[in-house]
Amino acid sequence: MSSKSVPTWLVTGGAGFIGANFVLQQRRAGRARIVNLDKLTYAGNLASLAELQGDEGHIFVKGDIGDPGVVGDLLNRYRPDAVINFAAESHVDRSILGPAVFVQTNVVGAFNLLECARQHWESLGARERAAFRFLHVSTDEVYGALGPQDAAFSEETAYAPNSPYAASKAAADHFTRAYYHTYGLPTLTTNCSNNYGPYQYPEKLIPLMILNAMEGKPLPVYGDGLQVRDWLFVEDHCEAIALVLERGQVGETYNIGGRSELTNLRVVQTICTLMDRWRPESPHHPHESLITNVADRPGHDRRYAIDESKISSELGWKPKESFSTGVEKTIRWYLDHQDWVQRVRSGSYGDWIESNYGQRREHRA
Ligand code: NAD
Ligand code: DAU
Repeated sequence: MSSKSVPTWLVTGGAGFIGANFVLQQRRAGRARIVNLDKLTYAGNLASLAELQGDEGHIFVKGDIGDPGVVGDLLNRYRPDAVINFAAESHVDRSILGPAVFVQTNVVGAFNLLECARQHWESLGARERAAFRFLHVSTDEVYGALGPQDAAFSEETAYAPNSPYAASKAAADHFTRAYYHTYGLPTLTTNCSNNYGPYQYPEKLIPLMILNAMEGKPLPVYGDGLQVRDWLFVEDHCEAIALVLERGQVGETYNIGGRSELTNLRVVQTICTLMDRWRPESPHHPHESLITNVADRPGHDRRYAIDESKISSELGWKPKESFSTGVEKTIRWYLDHQDWVQRVRSGSYGDWIESNYGQRREHRA
């Protein structure tokens, strides 16, 4: 892939789940030279980017978005046309057990990135200033929880974050908004629903259930399992981000979702059914018998749903995958990539499983 005559983007968090999918997708399409800044926390994994070894259009830098020296230096050195911020602590359960790092990365780090980007942007000539973009990747969790009959979240829904994770992301969204209104920094914000797909760290619902089912381990469903999430295949999210970056209106936010509301129990049952079908030799049939109700997540939001009509009507985006096609691809990917799974689980993964599930125990819904 040639790097000539394409823009340069500073992507942060590009060794994580969504960031890596984005970097791979955009490099495969040759859409940009990418400088990838990632701290390589437990969630960051260079194995996800192995395909890009030797690709001159991908420059990986290990570092913290909260470090003004590192970020300032990259902006000076590579003069990117856009900054796309995926870097975050992203797991709600971890934010409940240890919120401080969420404030550090998701609030202080995101603020530092905005401030460095502002200084860089103000140093540009008029044409470059007009073309520059700062895209902040955020979540539907900033809007709080919905009742069963409530309308889906729109871009006008008032913020009501309920977990330390959601509160930290909401703070970053507000700083992003403020940098547009106060300084005119050309920002864009996206708020997306639950992603799933290849390269997701197996602490999140879908990969955890696939791997536990494969290994005959309990499938821990929080509370009654009737909480509702909207699910979007990660590559569809990445396409939406690229589209917002290219054609989104500066200063605006765009909700992104899959129109795929499902209860957690339904998601887990779907995985079990597919595992029964695809692993006839497994000693764990029926996989549903592994489902175990465990103590609920404190402050667990009951329902999320996204109204994505703005991005679909203004920018013409719609997801390519339905939940049934996307989840099939995802299960197959995990079954076929046991080497990746073993690598990511070889570090501190066991400690997390013990600290999150050790205290929950089996629980009647
Ligand atoms: P992830 O946890 O898989 O990856 C986060 C990445 O950020 C990792 O590579 C990690 O090493 C890196 N990182 C963490 N702290 C850093 C720091 N201080 N400096 C530099 N890099 C750092 O997360 P994800 O699921 O890929 O989510 C990416 C973004 O999308 C996050 O901002 C998240 O809030 C948002 N989001 C996620 C979902 C989802 O369902 N996963 C949905 C909507 C929005
Ligand atoms: O809505 C978007 C958000 O989706 C993103 O902003 C977050 O970064 C991402 O982690 C995700 O948050 P959730 O809390 O919804 O994802 P998680 O996979 O942790 O949980 C999905 C649902 O499944 C949630 O209702 C909790 C439940 N759950 C989760 C785990 C890990 C279980 O019942 N058992 C489990 O073991």
